[in-house]
Parts: sequence; C-alpha cells; structure tokens
Amino acid sequence: MTSKLLQQAREFEREHIKDIRPEERPCYHVTGGHGWINDPNGFSYYKGEYHLFYQYHPYSNIWGPMHWGHVVSRDLITWERRPAIMAPDESYDDAGCFSGSALEMSDGRHLLMYTGVKRVIEPDGSERHYQTQCMATGDGTDYVKYEGNPVLTVKDVPEGGSPVDFRDPKIWQDTDGKFYAVAANATEDGNSAILLFESEDAFHWSFCNVLDRSSKKLGGMWECPDFFELDGRHILFVSPMEMMPEGLKYHAGHCTLCISGSYDKESRSFSREAVQPIDSGIDFYAPQTMLTPDGRRVMVAWMQSWSNTKFVPKGVKYFGQLTVPRELSFRDGKLIQKPVRELEAYRGERVCCRQTEISQETSLEGIRGRVMDMTIRLKVNGEFQEFCMKFACGEEYYTSVTYDPAEEVLCVDRSHSGYLYDIVHSRKLRVSPMNGEVTLRCLADRFSLEIFINDGSQTASVTLYTPLSADGITFAAKGKATIDIEKYNLSFS
Ligand code: FRU
Repeated sequence: MTSKLLQQAREFEREHIKDIRPEERPCYHVTGGHGWINDPNGFSYYKGEYHLFYQYHPYSNIWGPMHWGHVVSRDLITWERRPAIMAPDESYDDAGCFSGSALEMSDGRHLLMYTGVKRVIEPDGSERHYQTQCMATGDGTDYVKYEGNPVLTVKDVPEGGSPVDFRDPKIWQDTDGKFYAVAANATEDGNSAILLFESEDAFHWSFCNVLDRSSKKLGGMWECPDFFELDGRHILFVSPMEMMPEGLKYHAGHCTLCISGSYDKESRSFSREAVQPIDSGIDFYAPQTMLTPDGRRVMVAWMQSWSNTKFVPKGVKYFGQLTVPRELSFRDGKLIQKPVRELEAYRGERVCCRQTEISQETSLEGIRGRVMDMTIRLKVNGEFQEFCMKFACGEEYYTSVTYDPAEEVLCVDRSHSGYLYDIVHSRKLRVSPMNGEVTLRCLADRFSLEIFINDGSQTASVTLYTPLSADGITFAAKGKATIDIEKYNLSFS
C-alpha cells in the first residue's frame, strides 16, 4: 500500500511537473520531476528497461528528507518520468531514504537496497540520525519495504564502526549465485572503511571483510562505494568527503576516486594498486555503475559538487542533474569513459572542418549551439602558446576551455556563465598530448558541458546556466593552432 507520504510526493509531482517547461530542462540529462536531486540510485536493468532512481526532495530546490525519484529508459538516453517510489515513511527511515542500488531477482522482483536514516532523540535531548541498510522489492512502479528491515545495523560492522555514518550499499549477484554488497562506514579514528557483506537470499546478510579504508589519506568519510571487475582489474569507486588536493588533482573537496587493484575471491580481499580521479571538472559526484545485458559497464553520476549546492542560479526551477551514462573500460592503468554508444542514434546534422588554422578569436560556419556532440582535435605542434575555445557565448557570457601546451594544462572556466556567486568556477588538469594531439569530445546539453579528453582517458564535467540564446562558439590561439572539428547536432524530437 502506498503510504501517505509517498502519495503526497506523487501528487505534488503530478501537480508541479507543469511548472517547468521542457525547454527549461536539459534534453538528455536526467533531472528531477520537481525540486532537488542528488546521487543516482538503483541504476539497473529490469524487465527489458533501464531503471534509474535518484536522491530526491520534490518540495524545494534544497536538500531535504530524501525520497527516491524514478526514470526509465530503453536506450539510456531518452528517459521517461515515473512516479517517486520511496518516501521516508517508516520508523527506521523517517529521516530519509538515502542512496542505494538495485538488481533484478530471479523470481522477477526488482530488489532495492538502500540506507534508512532513523531520527533518534538521545537522553540529553539532542537529535542524532542513525543509518542502517534496508531492502525493498517492487515491479518497476510500486515498491514495498521489507518487513524485516533493517537488514544491516551497527551490530554487523567491525568494532569501532559508526552507527551514524554507515551508508550507500551497492548490491550485486555474483556468478556463484550469492549476493554481495559494499557499504561505507566511518571509523572511530576519523577515517572510513568499505565493508563487504554477503547473503544467500539478499535479505539476510553477514559481514565478510574490509575491502579498503581511507587511513588518514584520500579524504575522511568515503561515500557511495561501487565495486566491480573491469578489463581484468577490480575497481573500487568511492566519493570521499573532505579530501586534500594533490597538485592539480582532487580540488573539489568532495572528490571521486577510481581505486584499481586485484581481488581474491577466496579470501574476499582487495589489494589496492593505483588511485586516480574519476572526473576532473567542477560538477561530478557519487557515481554508480551497472552492467548492461550486452556486458558493458556503464556509469552515471550526479553532475554537481556539494560545495556549490547552496547556489541555485536565479530562475532555475529545479536543482541537480545526472551525467550522461558513460561506458567504462580500463586500459594501460587508466579508467576510460565514453558516452554510451546509444547517443550516436541521436546525431543529426554534421559539420566538419579540417586543418583549420586558428589565431585571432573567430567563429566557424555551422559551429554553434547548446546541444551537440563535437570533437576537436588540436595538433600540439609547437606553433601555438595557448588555445582557447569559448562555448555558450553571448554578449555577456561564455565558458572557456583553454590549453597551455608548455605546461600541458587544460583549464575549464565558467566564471562568465551565469553564476552570480563567488564560488569555484574553474578547474585545471594536466593533459599530455596523445599521438601529437589533444582531443576534446564535448557533449553539450543546454545547461552542461561534459568533456571527454584524449579518447575518454580524462573527463571534465561542468554545469552552466546561461540563457540558451548564448549559443556561440569561438576559437582563438596565441600563435597559430591547427584543429579538426567534427560536430553533430543532437536531436530529440
Ligand atoms: C552523497 C550522499 C550519500 C547519501 C546521500 C544523501 O552525495 O551524502 O552518502 O546517501 O548523499 O542524500
């Protein structure tokens, strides 16, 4: 039975969906029905469709008691909105249904595992929120919380684990038929551990091992873990809070890490080999992956950074969007990300420029717009000292992408892109040419730009909120730069 709180959220969504005109939203990036969204949740394939849920507060543009919103797609690009599926309506999740994951069970049910946050008034009158892991099952539209909830509490974690920061379970079923889940847990010493749990039936769980921990390095609390095999390595994704920068890396405060290593299934132990950022732009957090029926590991993330969430640009009627789903691979020690290939079916008009020489700021025929898939190949041949592309240009606005070949630094800067707040607007990353070129595949969707650098071996994602009339693109170089451009309009009508 649908609870009063969920019914209320669904009615609110239905009534208010019309407040936001389709043109005010991105074309192919997921946003909430109304109000606020953060992490992607429950990204899964169920009964022939992709399901994607998200942390959701429908009632306002700021974070509040967490619900789960829901969209469904056949191709990961065009999403159909479905009613919200969870509200914080049980005693064990009355302060929020936090992040979690999903899978299809062999009996045909769609299984969700999520964090229930319980409000507790302590004897001294203070309020604390305790986190436990909970289950729900459903049919793709309506979900029922498991009567045995919570299924994992602080009693199940190793000694010294926190009952307050124990969250974000990512569940999967292995080839041995068993269910496994990783979850993040703060530890007494100010660090956090990624805990591995196992279950025969997905409802009764026991602790197996600590896969990795932050150990006074790489941030404090790690959020939103994900653990999977990719091209012969095992990968642990985590989203650390309060992380110190390292050179040009990890400047977002809330960062994202790809930890690669090996996993021994017998002893259930993971050995860390290398660490790299997942995305080096301004807006990217809490990624979650799924395996598609044809075996691709696909990731989607919240295209936002926590530190900027208080600043909703004036006139924006929703807050938060998710990245384009990205296919992952692991090559030569690097995480490679590419927009899912399904996007190519939406390519329309194509414009190509070959061996175009750039010096003075200039625009090129047919190269403009805010919804596109455009690849620029910049020859790094010693003939220019700086290359700059300005995107979403109007009289007052632009977002720039600048490359300095001597320093091998790419800078994405949205200082002039509609934010009237003194917050982080630029990010630099070290980018070395590959085969004498820097390639920038720029995916634009009205209010965001995702750049896939050098075949997706690095990425930088940013949101921007300029009026759509600011749709110019210019190129300039100090010296003489030579570029090739291949640009496709993306069309969704
Ligand atoms: C990450 C996060 C998760 C938590 C959720 C709450 O962005 O803090 O750890 O489950 O958001 O909305």
